[in-house]
Amino acid sequence: MQRIAPALREDNVPLDLISLIKTILAATKEISFRVGQGQLSGVLGSTLDENIQGEIQKQLDVVSNQLFKDITLESGFVKAISSEEEETSVAGHETGKYIVSFDPLDGSSNIEINSLIGTIFSIMEAPEGMKAADPDMFKQPGTKQVCAGYVLYGPSTVLALTTGKGTHFYTLDKTHGSYMLTERNVKIPEDTAEFAINMSNQRSWQQPMKNYIADLLLGKEGPREKNFNMRWIAAMVGDVHRLLVRGGIFTYPSDNRDPNKPYKLRLMYEANPMSFLVEQAGGLSVTSTGRIMEIEPTDIHQRVEVILGSKNEVEKCLSYYK
Ligand code: AHG
Ligand code: MN
Ligand code: MN
Repeated sequence: MQRIAPALREDNVPLDLISLIKTILAATKEISFRVGQGQLSGVLGSTLDENIQGEIQKQLDVVSNQLFKDITLESGFVKAISSEEEETSVAGHETGKYIVSFDPLDGSSNIEINSLIGTIFSIMEAPEGMKAADPDMFKQPGTKQVCAGYVLYGPSTVLALTTGKGTHFYTLDKTHGSYMLTERNVKIPEDTAEFAINMSNQRSWQQPMKNYIADLLLGKEGPREKNFNMRWIAAMVGDVHRLLVRGGIFTYPSDNRDPNKPYKLRLMYEANPMSFLVEQAGGLSVTSTGRIMEIEPTDIHQRVEVILGSKNEVEKCLSYYK
């Protein structure tokens, strides 16, 4: 089994990017350790604070965010970071070559039930001639990502990573603290009979999504002529990991529960990195109107509709919007 650095060198990933990836992974090892300690770690439970998203922060959200911030900003490679838990971007080194966006803790509602949670990150090059304190650096489409990944803190700690040369899985060997390459070139099957959506929002979806899901539920007797299974982990890391492993379709569609908030997932540190990983594994990642990675961002915290996974199933879902 190969360690991560030699595996990345084999893919001709630049040395400074390898160093940055290793820096980010150092933070994930510490989070993995704390998550594994559960209540013994003293970082479970809520804070009394709201983040910029208007959500009550969990202690683990705050601790993970601080860790990522400290570790990435200490490294000379980083010009700025942006995070789900930070109001605006945070400046690093003027000479840093890269900018990093992250969701330090995805699936916060799973923390106290000891279920799947993770970390998502996305790396781009800092545009020339901009100041480290300028948040506009982050307004680049997802196609500009040079690396994206997530770490899933499950029964084992697994990293899914892409630098644009396929999506690979690494597993954290907790005996010596190294991520080891455990699956090269993960491929999402093109067809599936499994979907992931929060069904409790059904009455608030747009008509095309209602029609699509209704047809899946009709199973063998319906127009799809096969039975579909449903899974919902309530952590995008868990749902995306499942479909990288065995295929599926995952969607958080637009809904009208709150007219000021038609979408749930965030473009920069959820949708874009997951899109890069999914596309590199042969899947599709779109909104009902186009490819997610081509969206020109207008705000660090902007939210977006997400439909991703097995190619043929995503195309089928899109056909309901035409
Ligand atoms: P976060 O914990 O970073 O705020 O993200 C949670 C997101 C995403 O991971 C998941 O798919 C979705 O919210 C779950 O939404 P529901 O609350 O509708 O299940
Ligand atoms: Mn999240
Ligand atoms: Mn989060």
